Amino acid sequence: MKAELRALARRYTPALEKFLDRPHEAALERAYDLGRHAISSGLGILDMARLHYDAFAKVPPPASGKRRAHHLRRAGAFFLELLSPFEAAHRGFSELADRLQERNRRLEREIAERRQAQRAAEDSEAQLRGILDHSPAVIFLKDTQGRYLRVNRQFEKSFGIIASQVVGRRDHQLFSRNQASKFLANDRKVLRQGAPMDFEEIARYRDGLHTSIVSKFPVRGPNGRIYALCGVATDITARKRMEEALRQSEERFRLLVSNVKDYAIYMLYPDGRVASWNAGAERIKGWRRDEIIGKHYGRFFTAADLRNRAPRADLEKALRAGRYEGEGWRVRKDGSRFWANVIVTPVRGHAGKLLGFAKVTRDMTERRLADEAWRQLSSKILHAQETERKRISRELHDETGQALTAISVMLAALKHDPAAAASRSVARKVAHTQQLLERTMDSIHHFARELRPAMLDELGLIPALRSHAKTFAQRTGLRVRLIANPVAELLNNDQKTVFFRVAQESLTNVAKHARASRVNLSIYKSAGNLIMEISDNGRSFRDPPDAKNRHSQRLGLLGMQERVRLINGRFVIKPQPGAGTTVCVSVPFAPNKGSGIITGPTRSPLNYGKNSSIVGRRSYGGAAGPQVPARSRR
Ligand SMILES: Nc1ncnc2c1ncn2[C@@H]1O[C@H](COP(=O)(O)OP(=O)(O)OP(=O)(O)O)[C@@H](O)[C@H]1O
Ligand SMILES: [Mg+2]
Repeated sequence: MKAELRALARRYTPALEKFLDRPHEAALERAYDLGRHAISSGLGILDMARLHYDAFAKVPPPASGKRRAHHLRRAGAFFLELLSPFEAAHRGFSELADRLQERNRRLEREIAERRQAQRAAEDSEAQLRGILDHSPAVIFLKDTQGRYLRVNRQFEKSFGIIASQVVGRRDHQLFSRNQASKFLANDRKVLRQGAPMDFEEIARYRDGLHTSIVSKFPVRGPNGRIYALCGVATDITARKRMEEALRQSEERFRLLVSNVKDYAIYMLYPDGRVASWNAGAERIKGWRRDEIIGKHYGRFFTAADLRNRAPRADLEKALRAGRYEGEGWRVRKDGSRFWANVIVTPVRGHAGKLLGFAKVTRDMTERRLADEAWRQLSSKILHAQETERKRISRELHDETGQALTAISVMLAALKHDPAAAASRSVARKVAHTQQLLERTMDSIHHFARELRPAMLDELGLIPALRSHAKTFAQRTGLRVRLIANPVAELLNNDQKTVFFRVAQESLTNVAKHARASRVNLSIYKSAGNLIMEISDNGRSFRDPPDAKNRHSQRLGLLGMQERVRLINGRFVIKPQPGAGTTVCVSVPFAPNKGSGIITGPTRSPLNYGKNSSIVGRRSYGGAAGPQVPARSRR
């Protein structure tokens, strides 16, 4: 028997005896207490049954049968009272079991949830690690005491240090004092403010100093308290270097532009107000920088140009074509004028947005004056040349021609002189001299005509051209077609002379250079102009000779150009390598209506119709040079 049961038996037996003897409520309570005691001692119901059986056996039974029955019932009641704590405990146990079961289920649920949360946390940790380690930025997490909690791979790579050497340490243990102090100062600011902040920090990486924009922000726990500081550093060293290089090159460019004195270089806002001004602009235009910035550039224009809205038109032209270049009079601050060459270029930013216009102006006054002087000189020379040619031509015809004719007459008379006729050798010499004289008269005649065809003054441009073309065709063997609108005769004498000289030089050039077989010469009207075209079917040239080059030894194109310029015309050469050359002269032409002149073709007669006149038809024999002129008389 267990010790507890024995101890209980010692208390149970007297208590039972007492109750059997005198059944009081207090004795029953005693049974109940003993039951509770049994439970707390770890005894079971069977133990109690044994206890009761042993105790009851020890009580002497009453003598009468009736009292014995009573006795038995009372012992049963006492036993039941002993057991009643067991019953209560059993009830309590089953409730407890229920509660435990419920709690178990809750715990299982909680464990499942926690496992899920842990898996999610592991997943998000893996994701976070992935993000951190693949980020090109340097990322770190420090506790509020400045100890590193975590750094990413870029941190390791940049500083050349592994995470395990960093975690748990402070900046002062890892970096130079200066660098660490700066990091720390910025960290403290963020922790003090409790808000994200950006800093530009310079750090010594493995390969040298790097500048980064470091975004630092506090990290808060669920209770809202800051427990860490996170930093994300984006390396901007390359950008910085580029910015610096750009700044330096901009500075150099700005210095270059602002110091240029020969050109006015400045910017305009899109509405035409002056945005920048260089030394050249101040020198050429007279305004100081502080006087002109923000003012409209219209003040550089003459009153007439302003009336024609030229300032706006120039900008619009630049916008349309991407660039505008022009020349014209412009006004200085003091009201004086200068001849300007102007280039306007629109300046666009991202996505083509118009930022303004770049303007470069050159003072061309001196060149213009020189040009003007040159033009006047050329004009005088050409006029003098024409007058001289006319004089020599007349002289050759009137004086030399007459003298030679007189010699010819005398030679003819000498031929019939009996003295001369008597000597065969004298007669031969006279005949030979006559032939020589005739050839000389022919060439003088030709020379006089080339110098200045009398026809040009006497009969007009078209007959002079026709005559010249005919002689040219005979001389060269080229086929020449001439078609001319009779209105050409309404040109003034200067214009006619220019047309004739251009035709003359162009035909000479064809004979000299083109290796052509055909030349077309046409004069026609087109859109208020009278145009002369001389086109050949020769080999032409690839690059047009520079007719503007005054130092060239070649004078033909230059002469033609000068002459045309003097009559305010336009001179154009259109070379088509392998397919010929077209020389084109056009002058503004508006003859009075009702002038009685018969009108001719009004467009380029490339397709020669019935108006065409063929003035030469000899096949080209291959010799490019001029041929001996055919014998002719005036
Ligand atoms: N119709 C043409 N076909 C082919 N080349 C030509 C023609 N006209 C001119 N040229 C070329 O242009 C150059 C310049 O012509 P330009 O009349 O100025 O000079 P030039 O005839 O050589 O000499 P100059 O006229 O002074 O006696 C010629 O040398 C020639 O190469
Ligand atoms: Mg020439």
